[in-house]
Amino acid sequence: MHSFQYQNGRLVCENVDLETLAHEHGTPLYVYSSATILDHYRRLDAAMETLPHQICYAVKANSNLAVLALLAKEGSGFDIVSGGELFRVLKAGGAAAKCTFAGVGKTTEEIEYGLREGIYSFNVESEAELLRINEIAQRLNLRAPVAIRVNPNVEAGTHKYISTGKSDNKFGIDIERVRDVYAAAANLPHLHLRGVQMHIGSQITKSGPFAAAVTKMLPLVADLQREHGIEFFSIGGGLGIVYHDSIGAGQEAWWKQEESPAITIEEYAQSVVPLLKNLPVKILFEPGRLIVGNAGVLLTAVQFVKQGASKKFVIVDAGMNDLIRPALYQGYHEVVPLRQPEDAITERIDLVGPVCESGDFFAQDRDVAQLGQGELVALMSAGAYGFAMASNYNSRPRPAEIMITGDAAKVVRRRESLDEIIAGESIS
Ligand code: LLP
Repeated sequence: MHSFQYQNGRLVCENVDLETLAHEHGTPLYVYSSATILDHYRRLDAAMETLPHQICYAVKANSNLAVLALLAKEGSGFDIVSGGELFRVLKAGGAAAKCTFAGVGKTTEEIEYGLREGIYSFNVESEAELLRINEIAQRLNLRAPVAIRVNPNVEAGTHKYISTGKSDNKFGIDIERVRDVYAAAANLPHLHLRGVQMHIGSQITKSGPFAAAVTKMLPLVADLQREHGIEFFSIGGGLGIVYHDSIGAGQEAWWKQEESPAITIEEYAQSVVPLLKNLPVKILFEPGRLIVGNAGVLLTAVQFVKQGASKKFVIVDAGMNDLIRPALYQGYHEVVPLRQPEDAITERIDLVGPVCESGDFFAQDRDVAQLGQGELVALMSAGAYGFAMASNYNSRPRPAEIMITGDAAKVVRRRESLDEIIAGESIS
């Protein structure tokens, strides 16, 4: 589900009118629904209830403290990829003991920080990293919990920039070689071999790749449990969401749109739970996009409408620095006017931002309702990898973020000021 819909011709999030909110806080503005975040978390948790399991929300998708605090209260663990993300989790009240630490390039400082805070496991991506962790653990006089990320070499069927489980990706250790790496790691006295991990990619909309990867991993997980006593198998994240027609379809049909088929949480569970149920280990999930993607929108206002020689451009006040997914992955975000159009008349436009790059667009050759100067639109499904990937390119302050809970709208990050952008710089 998600909590954005038209009521009396106006787009609302839960019980809050989005146009009123935009006037109060300005645009561009990120708006999140806590009900949607909780619904997705709880549904995934319930779908996995027959397995001993732990959800470790992938912080990279949306790392706002309010999002992390909401999930921490639900009992979520966290999948982190930097010292900065660990810092955020701890500030938000999350437990280090439920954190897995991923990433191919962990620094000495980050490993030390994770160890001192008592994280659950490092998901290790190379032999050199195993050696580094062992060395640091020795210096701190403790044993570091580790899992090795296995590259199962399966096709995830997603955009090449977000596919991670093929042998030509930089991630993980080849499945053919990993038994030997565990055997070598078992001789490093300051490591505790706690688990095994995989993650094959992101925005995966079919169950086949998940089932294929899990199936490929099963014998390995069983062997590692027997030989090294590992206690968990993390099957990563990657569950795709619907980006098309999220409003028009209505609440019930929303998951099932043909234009952009995405498996539901329940279908995902049906494909992996039977495979996993006899393993004598705890199963970890690392969803990011699934939890927050459809729970957020980016509100933006039309600045100008410009008729070019061959195209009509609608220029808005959000830019690629605020939401980079269209530029980077040809990501699709539905364009929904905050005032419900009274007729079905559309025109073909490019919706573009003010940044000095041709890649600064949100929609190209898209048929959308007629939009005039000053009108407000929502870029839908922007809760994941939206603000988290925002930058100050073109010296643009990053947007404010609002969390909605029922009738209440809370500013969970204020709009950046120009002074904040240059803080830290000096002339000589
Ligand atoms: N676990 C690991 C090890 C990951 O690398 C990722 C995402 C996740 C979990 C969470 O994946 P999710 O459930 O969100 O698909 N910026 C891109 C997506 C990059 C994903 C990177 N890794 C986008 O906007 O599409």
